[in-house]
Amino acid sequence: MNAEGRLAGRFVALGITGSIAAYKAVELLRLLRAEGADVAVLMTQSATRFVGTLTLEALSRHAVESDVLALQPDGRIGHVVIADAADAIVVAPATAHWLGMMANGIAGDVVTATCLASAAPVVVAPAMDGEMYEHPATRRNVARLHEDFGCAIVDPELGALASGQTGVGRLAALPLIVDAVVAAIGDRPIRAPGAARPALVEPRHEEDLAGRHVVVTAGGTAEPIDPVRFIGNRSTGKMGMAIAQAALDRGASVTIVAGLVSVAPPEGARIVRAETTETMRAAVLHELVAPDGGAGLDALIMAAAVADFRPRLTADTKLARGGPLVLELEATPDILAEVGRISRGSDVGGALGRALEPRPVLVGFAAETGSLARAPEKLRAKGVDLLLANDVSQADSGFGTDTNRVTVYSRDGDADPWPLLSKHEVADRLLDLVAGRLDERDAGRQTGGAPSAQETTR
Ligand code: PMT
Repeated sequence: MNAEGRLAGRFVALGITGSIAAYKAVELLRLLRAEGADVAVLMTQSATRFVGTLTLEALSRHAVESDVLALQPDGRIGHVVIADAADAIVVAPATAHWLGMMANGIAGDVVTATCLASAAPVVVAPAMDGEMYEHPATRRNVARLHEDFGCAIVDPELGALASGQTGVGRLAALPLIVDAVVAAIGDRPIRAPGAARPALVEPRHEEDLAGRHVVVTAGGTAEPIDPVRFIGNRSTGKMGMAIAQAALDRGASVTIVAGLVSVAPPEGARIVRAETTETMRAAVLHELVAPDGGAGLDALIMAAAVADFRPRLTADTKLARGGPLVLELEATPDILAEVGRISRGSDVGGALGRALEPRPVLVGFAAETGSLARAPEKLRAKGVDLLLANDVSQADSGFGTDTNRVTVYSRDGDADPWPLLSKHEVADRLLDLVAGRLDERDAGRQTGGAPSAQETTR
């Protein structure tokens, strides 16, 4: 933050509603911070479908508020804390729907609720289709916000719209919105000192994984049918990359074995590309055993969506279009189950013939649809320490989402359902468990302590 900027020392709430222009709010956040503001983001549920909360959380360093009932870690109600502390609230983009709700005082979303609960000046920057903006209902709502409630309105501009038409409805230039926030605050006194503001999400630099090698698989595998086609899945790599980032933040040396991914890997990780189940298997097994025959990694976390079936044969040339095509599929090797056997020294015909030392912590994810009933059996069959099951048929969990709702199964405890969390929070909580297990493992080795559950249940 810029201590010299026009918003230095100010706390600004940025409300984002569900318009295609929501992506511009990311840049608006950056500009507000460049002016010295501490910014917290409020989003309607539909806005979270246009832009990911992770980006906004990372840039603002505050948890994004998108649920009116959500509490801060200290038990305070998130949007009320923001309402009480904000020096200004800026709603950009503001949709026709949101203007209607606000004009009628209907607090059904966190942005409206915060505006209603706050004495801070409110700046509103509408963005929508041109005809919609011209509609008398919208004009009346905008006028009401300005005339009755004292909101500053930053009018939308003439320009190309998402509909492909040209009209007045494009979100105003971002510097104009920043100017409006500066003007709205003017020389009012700062409303709340630091402690009354929502807590900053500090990056965790508790280096409890320093000196550990953590291998994370991320993304989906692609099983070739011919040189141009493959059988794949919808994994983006977000879950795996969040784990890799969290492990780096905690001091680990991190290797990412990446299948097909659509998100960038974190800086500082070693990347091994492995797009088929077979190449992923080879890459993981290569990491598993060090050249001296000891364990090559401390923890393996398989967040990748690995194919269970692949075409038995791959055509050398592109298959020509014609009549129906029948593909014969065969089962792929189960990488995690093989790693489990190798770690325990129970891999029939395996080269090691003994358990890996020191024993790595093994974590799998289970992608289920509708019920998690199969998860305990997967935990057992794969021989892992922890299995995080997610219901990928839920809108807020699984493939491509920024959030995940997992239930954690362990060999030595009850199933533990976690609430809906960002993938970064899931990653951090998971690494708390992994770090704890590694510390226990090392303490046990030093004292010649009792073997772990994994060793005794073989
Ligand atoms: O990448 P995102 O878009 O963020 O999505 C995240 C995710 C939904 C992919 C992730 O949360 C997840 O659930 N990953 C596991 C997907 C999966 O392959 O589930 P499974 O139930 O089929 O497999 C169980 C475990 O065995 C997994 O750890 C998997 O990596 C592993 N496996 C599966 C098949 C196989 N042949 N070999 C394996 O090692």
